[in-house]
Amino acid sequence: MRAVSAFVFAFAIVNSLDSTFGVKSEVEKFPKSKELKNKLIKTLSKSFYLTLDEPESFSGIVDTMKRVTVKPGDVIIKQGDKVDDSRSLYIIESGTYVATRNTSQYVDVPIKTYNDHGLFGEFAFFENRPRIATVTAKSAGVLYSLDHNTFDKLRVMKKFRRDHNRFRFHHMMHC
Ligand SMILES: *[C@@H]1O[C@H](CO)[C@@H](O)[C@H](O)[C@H]1NC(C)=O
Repeated sequence: MRAVSAFVFAFAIVNSLDSTFGVKSEVEKFPKSKELKNKLIKTLSKSFYLTLDEPESFSGIVDTMKRVTVKPGDVIIKQGDKVDDSRSLYIIESGTYVATRNTSQYVDVPIKTYNDHGLFGEFAFFENRPRIATVTAKSAGVLYSLDHNTFDKLRVMKKFRRDHNRFRFHHMMHC
């Protein structure tokens, strides 16, 4: 949790400097092996929200994703947490993660378990609304985070599309 917060904070600083000086900074890229990059692209392309016209856009997004290591018990996102422009979505490289949700009647209802694959956090990322579930690491693991400020700078927002019927289903089953 500490590592994740530190990362988000760092990006928040970069963003405020940008706004102060009115400079559109270059996005930072983090080198990755071809194999890892392919995995991240493949996972990102399954995002509920992203339907990019140009497949190379996925490659550009993935280049900016940052490695985050977690340990068992780390809470990556927490239901109810408000988000800002530095909010992230996460793609799993490795590890086991459980998404849970508190409802009006039940506490910590399991929604989904992820093993070494998948992405989470996209609801708040794309909708700019509070986190709708809690995701906790059940093992040590590695995530790749995509920062929304960076995503904005890549100017790919106009290419995402929302389907409201699918959205209702997604909202029930994912986070
Ligand atoms: C879920 O409810 C329990 C019991 O009230 C509480 O301890 C926990 O913090 C809640 N989780 C979230 C994410 O709000």
